[in-house]
Amino acid sequence: MEKHTLWGGRFEQETDPQMWALNASIMVDRRLAFHDIRGSQAWVRALHRAGVLTAQEAQTLQDGLERVAAEFAEGRFVFAPTDEDIHTAVERRLGELVGAVAGKLHTGRSRNDQVATDFRLWMLDAIDAVRRAIAELQSALLERAEADLDAIMPGYTHLQQAQPILLGHWWLAHFWALQRDRERFAQSRERTSVMPLGAAALAGTAYPIDRAALAADLGFKAVAPNSHDAVSDRDFAAEFLFNAAMLGVHLSKLAEGVILFSSAEFGFFELSDAYSTGSSLMPQKKNPDAFELARGKSGALIGNLTGLMATLKGLPSAYDKDLQEDKAPVFRAYDDLMALLPVLAKALRTLKVNRERMASALDSATLATDLADYLVTHGIPFREAHSIVGKAVSAALRLGVPLNELPEDVRAAIHPALAGDLTDVLSPEACLARRNVEGGTAPAAVRAQLEKAKEALG
Ligand code: ARG
Repeated sequence: MEKHTLWGGRFEQETDPQMWALNASIMVDRRLAFHDIRGSQAWVRALHRAGVLTAQEAQTLQDGLERVAAEFAEGRFVFAPTDEDIHTAVERRLGELVGAVAGKLHTGRSRNDQVATDFRLWMLDAIDAVRRAIAELQSALLERAEADLDAIMPGYTHLQQAQPILLGHWWLAHFWALQRDRERFAQSRERTSVMPLGAAALAGTAYPIDRAALAADLGFKAVAPNSHDAVSDRDFAAEFLFNAAMLGVHLSKLAEGVILFSSAEFGFFELSDAYSTGSSLMPQKKNPDAFELARGKSGALIGNLTGLMATLKGLPSAYDKDLQEDKAPVFRAYDDLMALLPVLAKALRTLKVNRERMASALDSATLATDLADYLVTHGIPFREAHSIVGKAVSAALRLGVPLNELPEDVRAAIHPALAGDLTDVLSPEACLARRNVEGGTAPAAVRAQLEKAKEALG
């Protein structure tokens, strides 16, 4: 098969078919079709403003590109075996539709600045979509926090019971992590909104293009200040992948918590059937697959970032074909996140909380800190109070009773200040209410936090 490439003029031999397959990127970059066409339409306007194209030529190219876009939109676009990448495919089809004038489209432009422009345009839309999906998950967490605000649960550090907290507080902890992720994507959007077009291959286009006007036309906030940097810069892709990886880590942490709390041993949560799966062998099983996939996919999200970083290091100058490897990891990350985020939101909304189970799981030893604080009110220095309560905890363990049921004579023997009725001191409600600092787990503080969270979500 004879290949009609954009660059074949100097070549005397045909490209080896396996070399062709290796080099072609159409299977990956075809999803840039609309952004490639948008970029080309703006380029046509810029060439016309620069006096390179007549009004008639510009109009013909615009109409032709519009028809190519319609073919993609309606699923009618037919790829040819000679379509090496999306840029080639669009230009080839444009030629078939409008004739020889299509050959003027690529004047003063290189695929190097073209692909970087297309990819950034695609990413601006992708960032908006991911941010909306994160916001949806955040709003599910907000709803949960509101519904479960006053449910008491053991809070864990080192996966050992630490102090009582409210479930509303636990949900909001995950809300704020996602808030930072959403902010990070917004900040990266600013650096992504920089236009490479006009850089040409590496040295800048030789035509009098008004790049500022072109950037405004395409909705970019700035023009890349150096043509050499413009065609090699993939920081925006790496940033997207870092943001995706960080988000993946947050989703994985949330997922691990939900998986753990849904196990029979904890029994705090029960997942809806709609977001669980069964076992082909064990009839009793209901597995938290949505959350396991969140935990699992975070591995690939981290891998996408490290893969691209390794690809970028050591590229000597401007554009190198290594850069063609930039898109697949970004598309994979985007697809994984867009599959995951909506399902997690729905799975959280439909999950059931077993309040009794959570409250009864709370060991009264989690009130030991409060007992020490109580001794502090008797003028005992905290360090000493800590050690006295430690002895009480150890005595309770020895006698096999919960801390709040330690007999009074035993307590009095440890320290006189421990004698008397400690019911109020050793109550989870009292313990929670005392943590009424901004950001703390007291019901009033969590209600205030919830308002802040709503404001942050907008
Ligand atoms: N398919 C290429 C890519 O994704 C387009 C740029 C090709 N440039 C070149 N000089 N061969 O990077």
